[in-house]
Amino acid sequence: MKAPGGFGVPAHSVTTRNLGAAYPLLAEAGLGRRGVLVGHDLLGGSFVFDPFELYRAGAVSNPNMIVFGQIGRGKSALLKTYLWRQSVFGRRAWVVDPKGEYSRLAALWGVRPVALRPGGSVRLNPLDPLRHGPPSGAGSAGEDPDRRQGELLASLASACLGRPLAPRERAAVELGLGTVRAGAGVPTVPAVVAALLDPSGEQAAKIRTDRASLLEDGRDVALELRRLVHGDLRGMFDGETTPGLDLSGPLVVLDLSALYSSAALGVLMACATAWLQAAVSRSGSGQAFLVVDEAWAILANLGVARWLQASWKLSRAHGVANVAALHRLSDLAAVGSAGSEQVGLAEGLLSDSETLVIYAQPPGEVAKAAEVLSLSSTEAELVPQLRRGVALWKVGRRSFLVRHVVGSGERRLVDTDAAMVDR
Ligand SMILES: Nc1ncnc2c1ncn2[C@@H]1O[C@H](COP(=O)(O)OP(=O)(O)O)[C@@H](O)[C@H]1O
Ligand SMILES: [Mg+2]
Repeated sequence: MKAPGGFGVPAHSVTTRNLGAAYPLLAEAGLGRRGVLVGHDLLGGSFVFDPFELYRAGAVSNPNMIVFGQIGRGKSALLKTYLWRQSVFGRRAWVVDPKGEYSRLAALWGVRPVALRPGGSVRLNPLDPLRHGPPSGAGSAGEDPDRRQGELLASLASACLGRPLAPRERAAVELGLGTVRAGAGVPTVPAVVAALLDPSGEQAAKIRTDRASLLEDGRDVALELRRLVHGDLRGMFDGETTPGLDLSGPLVVLDLSALYSSAALGVLMACATAWLQAAVSRSGSGQAFLVVDEAWAILANLGVARWLQASWKLSRAHGVANVAALHRLSDLAAVGSAGSEQVGLAEGLLSDSETLVIYAQPPGEVAKAAEVLSLSSTEAELVPQLRRGVALWKVGRRSFLVRHVVGSGERRLVDTDAAMVDR
């Protein structure tokens, strides 16, 4: 870094590393040079970031990232350019795209987004099997694929119901899935609905009840899950995955924009994310990014958020960096009072994301953000004032103020203002 000279004094040149040592609380030495250029560190130098490199170097204990920011601050622009720049290193990306804004990125990469719409030609099975066999670093209970599938189905049911499942409902779901698994073929949502509406005496005996009671226990869940089969979401998740979907490309985009303004968006995103995670885990590609843009829509539901948190925990085992974009910190704690499970969950998701990128937050959010994200008083003062494209990056224990630079060739990729601004 070069200090400006003045009064005839020659300019003083020093490396950023030495500057960091000389002025330890003023100048950061950066995160090294290995990785992808994001933009300028506003305290000097360029800012380079790669979660896999940082994990390897021991600077972070997981590769996950959450990007917070009000609408229009540049969250999606960062994600799109970041994925594009990562492609140089051969990294793959899987994107849940609720607004249908990643199509230009897909076109650049030479792939077509998978567009989900009612009555469309693509069907995804959220109950597609997860990868069997222990992934590297296995050991935690959450990694048993059958158990994960059970948790997933319970969380989808809870998303459809709009409330957590009661214990007897959860048991009915588990038994229904067990019946379907015992049959031939891949489990599907319609098969689970059929099993819930027609339980066997044998399944009932497993929980010391009779057929009629088990049917009653699972009836509400079955009726809500039927929505995926006969309701507004029919045709998208109600059977085996459409054969021939090309998942081998460097980028897979699930375009959900057909239902962006629908009340079913949360359920749709939960199903889509579930399917994508199963596909990523099976592909075993290693060092890939799984991006959920507009993730607030799925986190509003406790069951789904719980399941997502477990997925976040599996990131290291699968070599996947999960990335979620949210508007506000309160998206995470939407319905939580102090000490509630929702708040615990929000904190859990945060502690499983060692990189937090914080674009401008409304002043009302800052006190809470400062507390939960451990912001210094200076950082808390800065956060409401950050301009478009500028964010506070918290990487492990370190903080950086970064201006994301969009290259001239990338402008078309990130422009979501076209309808607002006459060019
Ligand atoms: N770093 C940046 N430099 C220049 N323009 C930017 C930058 N970040 C975002 N923009 C522009 O701002 C607009 C909104 O950005 P977007 O990423 O869609 O916001 P968000 O996802 O936070 O709602 C886009 O038109 C984009 O081109
Ligand atoms: Mg966006």
